[in-house]
Amino acid sequence: MASSGGIHRETWGSKTGFILAAAGSAIGLGNIWRFPYILGENGGFAFLLIWIICNILIGLPILGAELAIGRGSNRNPVGAFKALMPGTAWWLVGFMGLITGVIILSFYSIVAGWTLAYLVKSVTGVTVSYPDAEASALAFENFVSSGGQIVIYSFVFTLLCMIVVSQGVKSGIEKWSKILMPTLFILIIILIVRSLTLKGGGAGLAFLFKPDFSKITLQVIVMAMGQAFFSLSLGMGVMITYGSYVDRKTNIINSAGSIMLLNMSISILAGLALIPAVFAMGFQPSSGVGLTFHVLPLVFSKLPFGTFLSIIFFFLLSIAALTSAISLLEVMVSYATDELRWSRPRATVIMAAIAFLFGVPAALSFGVWSEIKIFGLGFFDLSEYITANVLLPIGGILIALFAGWVWGRARLEAEIKEGNPDLKFYKVWLWMIRIVAPVAVATVLVTSLLPEKTEEAQVENNAQPDTVLVTETPGVIDSSGDQPTSAAEPSTE
Ligand code: TRP
Repeated sequence: MASSGGIHRETWGSKTGFILAAAGSAIGLGNIWRFPYILGENGGFAFLLIWIICNILIGLPILGAELAIGRGSNRNPVGAFKALMPGTAWWLVGFMGLITGVIILSFYSIVAGWTLAYLVKSVTGVTVSYPDAEASALAFENFVSSGGQIVIYSFVFTLLCMIVVSQGVKSGIEKWSKILMPTLFILIIILIVRSLTLKGGGAGLAFLFKPDFSKITLQVIVMAMGQAFFSLSLGMGVMITYGSYVDRKTNIINSAGSIMLLNMSISILAGLALIPAVFAMGFQPSSGVGLTFHVLPLVFSKLPFGTFLSIIFFFLLSIAALTSAISLLEVMVSYATDELRWSRPRATVIMAAIAFLFGVPAALSFGVWSEIKIFGLGFFDLSEYITANVLLPIGGILIALFAGWVWGRARLEAEIKEGNPDLKFYKVWLWMIRIVAPVAVATVLVTSLLPEKTEEAQVENNAQPDTVLVTETPGVIDSSGDQPTSAAEPSTE
């Protein structure tokens, strides 16, 4: 009953197919590039702890709500709100999601471009040839500041996205994800084994798992929450769109749980693969956006068949980036085809072009435009900060409020329980989406945006004064932080 019917939509091939496609959106550069570097900049264990809490208390309920809104309306994010609450301004939430999506895609394609470039560099054997940490870091910094190359690689990546999305997402991606994601998983396990057996890797484990609650600052909480939103693809309607292809027998809450667990495990595994190696090889965990690209080549160079594994790894990471980026593009395309009645190819080309052009200043912000700063951040850092830590959380609050308070309790309950009438934890979920999630997100958001920091936050933040907007500038291997001393002692076996 909860379906408003109307547009006939295809559904996913199977429940597993849906979970893998949603996990394919969630699992991407966010897990393997972003998670380790944000964790490294934000105190390791403290970040990990808060991030896990955010996933469960905020991510899980909002993921369920997005899927329910999608399935209940059968529409793209803008159309969904229009269908469920006609004549109100709620569709603006979907529209804000589109804008957020363009900005995310613009910088996401840049990092995906780095990944493609590292794939090429693996084929030519360059990645496994760096003699030490400095050489590897320097090669990365030189590469990203080379404006033109970066723009070309991200253009190639954008083209790949366009090819997939213009043909329709489901058949191809569903099939590919089933083979490629498990392979990625196996490779990460190999990396973990190598990384943990490096001399000096133990310091990395301590950084990750040794309880140190004193490092929990407002900054850490903001970043952990932003990372949870970003990594789960929440807050801008990707999961509304994917939910619109879910059939009525599927249990939404269970699926949300599986997606969250898959996504969290890949992040944690990526952390385990990288962080011990960071310490063992004498990098700083706070090296910023380049962390993954600094460290992995060195790990590969210490593995048998390193060149081969490096090729496979960067290939799979490119695919993981692709399955995530197409979910971003798909949101804009489904909006343009449903609401503006554009043809799919036209929608794909125009939307991808907008995101690509938007990304050019971000790409150049590592090189020729590195001097241009807004709120102290370059274009890339600014896009990343504003989307993950501001726009996605705002989208999340609005989605939670809509599902919990506006949509109608009976309609929400019918949609969530569809396919699972005796859901045990419904009441718990309901109060999480009504109260816990929106209040938690709003509190963090408001506190972080207040110009005057509270006294407490100031005391807590004194390690990094004046840095609500902190993202390391790439190129700087920062040696100031309060990292465990062993970080400073390179011990490359
Ligand atoms: N979640 C993806 C990742 O971790 C990135 C992504 C895809 C995303 N779609 C999104 C982030 C929507 C925010 C919103 O790599």
